[in-house]
Amino acid sequence: MKKIIIILIIVVLLVILGIVTPIVFFKNDVIINVNTSLKTNDFINKVSLGNFESKTVDTSKIGKREVEIKVKSIFGITKKYIRTYQVLDNIAPTIEGKSEVVVYQGDTIDLLKDVKVQDNYDKYIKPTLDGSYDLNKVGEYNLKYLAKDTSGNEASLDLKLKVIAKQSPEVSRTSKGYAIENRNGVTYINGILIANKTYALPKNYGNGLTKETEAAFYKMQSAAKEDGLSLKIVSGFRSYQDQVIVYNKWVNRDGKSVADTYSARAGHSEHQSGLAMDLNWISSKFENSNEYKWLQANSYKYGFIMRYPKSKQEITGYIYEPWHYRYVGLELSKELYNNGNWITLEEYLGIDSKYK
Ligand code: DAL
Ligand code: ZN
Repeated sequence: MKKIIIILIIVVLLVILGIVTPIVFFKNDVIINVNTSLKTNDFINKVSLGNFESKTVDTSKIGKREVEIKVKSIFGITKKYIRTYQVLDNIAPTIEGKSEVVVYQGDTIDLLKDVKVQDNYDKYIKPTLDGSYDLNKVGEYNLKYLAKDTSGNEASLDLKLKVIAKQSPEVSRTSKGYAIENRNGVTYINGILIANKTYALPKNYGNGLTKETEAAFYKMQSAAKEDGLSLKIVSGFRSYQDQVIVYNKWVNRDGKSVADTYSARAGHSEHQSGLAMDLNWISSKFENSNEYKWLQANSYKYGFIMRYPKSKQEITGYIYEPWHYRYVGLELSKELYNNGNWITLEEYLGIDSKYK
């Protein structure tokens, strides 16, 4: 009898306790991937004699973390519980880079320069290069870019490095005797990058205006401003994919043969080189503006040339574009200026601009 009374008292006490304090059954191990959705609800198996409102839990930082979970008893008394959880990162970074690089024997090259690493968690991951090579020795080297995040997830990307002999016997030359070089698919003639109808750029070439081009433009822009004129880039760098869209738009409007007179096919646009820009107004009326007149007289002082002058369509492959300027550097721009009678790159180098 005494035993039964004691058991009854214990049961009554438990019920009272349960009413004042809710009974919560927690899950044991909560492990979650960084930046994925987690709610306080995910910590709980069951709540008896209480109410519980699920809240979002922060998963933006990896490591062992704590969360406070509030549960209200049916009498409205709030009880706080601290639970731990583990935030993990098991997603590897991604690496973007060239799969093949060609370099002349004895030259130097920074193979990591254009490699891009992105990660879901780490802001900056420095890529490394695995494998050995000798830039003084002709040969093919199979290397790997590696990138590891702070949680140890690793990514790799194969790179074939080809070291070729400098005195390549099959150097071809232009009609004016300038050497035509192909460096990683990019054509340089007398050291000048050429993108026209004859010479295309590789699909993955380019990632913005070059630093030199940008700096030269800002200098020119300031000088124009001092003369009360405003220069604006309305189209600068355009990727291969951008050019696919632009060119197709004009083909749909005017047909291929007309579009070819004023728009470059993808891979053939100088805009992909990061050295060209359209200024102020893409219209033939731009030539009536003071900005145009100023550019005609001054752009060469900043290393720019007017790339598609009037009456040179047979030579450049394109109709007159008063708005399109190409950075060539000061020395060459002065030579091509020719007192406003612009010499085109095709004439100067002895090349043509024709689709094959
Ligand atoms: N409008 C020039 C030719 C281009 O498309 O690059
Ligand atoms: Zn242009």
